Amino acid sequence: VGSGVRMPTTGPVTLAVASNRGPVSFDRDQSGALVARRAGGGLASILGPGVEKHGALWLASAVSDADRAAAKAGIVDAEGFRLRYLVTGADQYRMYYDAIANGTLWFLHHGLWDLPRQPLFDRPWWAAWDAYVKVNHTFAAVIADEVADGGTVLVQDYHLSLVCGELARLRPDLRTAFFAHTPFCSPAELRLVPDEVAQLILSGLAAAGACGFHTARWASAFDACCEERLGRVPTTFVSPAAPDGADVARVAGSDACAKELRHLDSQVGDRRLIARVDRIELSKNLFRGFAAFDDLLEQRAPLRGEVVFAALEYPSREGLAEYRAYRRDVESAVKAINDKWATAEWTPIILDTTDNYARSVAALRRYDVLLVNPVRDGLNLVAKEGPLVNERDGVVALSRGAGVWDEIGDHAIEVHPFDVVGTSDALGTALDLSARDRSIRSAALRRAAVSRTPIDWFDEVLAAARTPD
Ligand code: F6P
Repeated sequence: VGSGVRMPTTGPVTLAVASNRGPVSFDRDQSGALVARRAGGGLASILGPGVEKHGALWLASAVSDADRAAAKAGIVDAEGFRLRYLVTGADQYRMYYDAIANGTLWFLHHGLWDLPRQPLFDRPWWAAWDAYVKVNHTFAAVIADEVADGGTVLVQDYHLSLVCGELARLRPDLRTAFFAHTPFCSPAELRLVPDEVAQLILSGLAAAGACGFHTARWASAFDACCEERLGRVPTTFVSPAAPDGADVARVAGSDACAKELRHLDSQVGDRRLIARVDRIELSKNLFRGFAAFDDLLEQRAPLRGEVVFAALEYPSREGLAEYRAYRRDVESAVKAINDKWATAEWTPIILDTTDNYARSVAALRRYDVLLVNPVRDGLNLVAKEGPLVNERDGVVALSRGAGVWDEIGDHAIEVHPFDVVGTSDALGTALDLSARDRSIRSAALRRAAVSRTPIDWFDEVLAAARTPD
């Protein structure tokens, strides 16, 4: 084990969190030693501050070969976290993560299925489901082994839907809470999956001491599914995650971000900027966003040459054919729009698919309009991060399908995620707002964004955890 990775010094585990992706990923340096790197992604920034404050043990899947090698050391300290990585064989991991967690449950909870073709529960699917059950049971067994009597476990997300059920069997003394960072499907959508699967998922979640959601909408959907299938409504709570203001401000103030902002400025000039920052993800609704921008240029000739759309989109889940195809389709849609409108001086859409956080934050500092138009999303933290660092009284054009709509919708311009003409109008309205309107709205968005911290969120989840009924 190399630099940045230490064996732990602390004693019994009284608090653990479990998630598929951990807050740290491992790599090899030139000498072959393992080095830890803080992982990007929403979960690390939502959970990280609370985990550090409480010194919790973080259990996660080993995703890369270097993670698997680090996992051999058992519990390690890295980047301020006390970690234990669980090793799953590569094939089993693909079945659990690609086929079930992302290929099935993600589509279910975000309403993404193309129903004439999907879902399709064939024999390979059922083999993958077995792998999902096994990985969930392994997580539960390791937690049961690590956590001291009467300890607390906070389980995160749809990858681990069955963990609390198994833990209630293995260790009924533990206080548990499950937190869903996604939306939750409706009872009608849940009827699309085989009864046995729906039943296992709901009973697995309902076996947690409490189930948490970012908004009351997803909690009600979960309640309705439980009412229909289990005939009872488990304990739920609502606790919207908050941005890590100190961390976003640190990146915004960094030299790397200043350099990226200069680069962006050289591309945008004194034009106005519409920006979006996401993973290349089917639920983020990239297509309709670009189609709406195309419509805006079509309808409002004076905007041609005067507005740039910067889309900072980093690749995600490329093990799934649907995601690879989506990326190709997004790239060709952008090319078609640029071919249609570009001039020698102006490229209408800048599509950047590099994973460069400083560049994304530079776009958040510079936007006039931030487009956040998911078809459905658990929260969509970027809609709160943007206003924290934006320097131009930027406006947020926000889908009501995002969980964060319930918190900040009053200060945003509303987007119906499926209505391309409506989205085009929303972008136009956002660009037309008076300076006074923009300043009132952006001040309200900033107030909402600082009103909670990641520690508030973590402590609420911790307070909700209890021994199962
Ligand atoms: O939104 C759900 C979520 O699991 C987040 O917690 C996470 O940041 C994101 O999806 C990315 O997922 P993955 O681990 O598949 O890259």
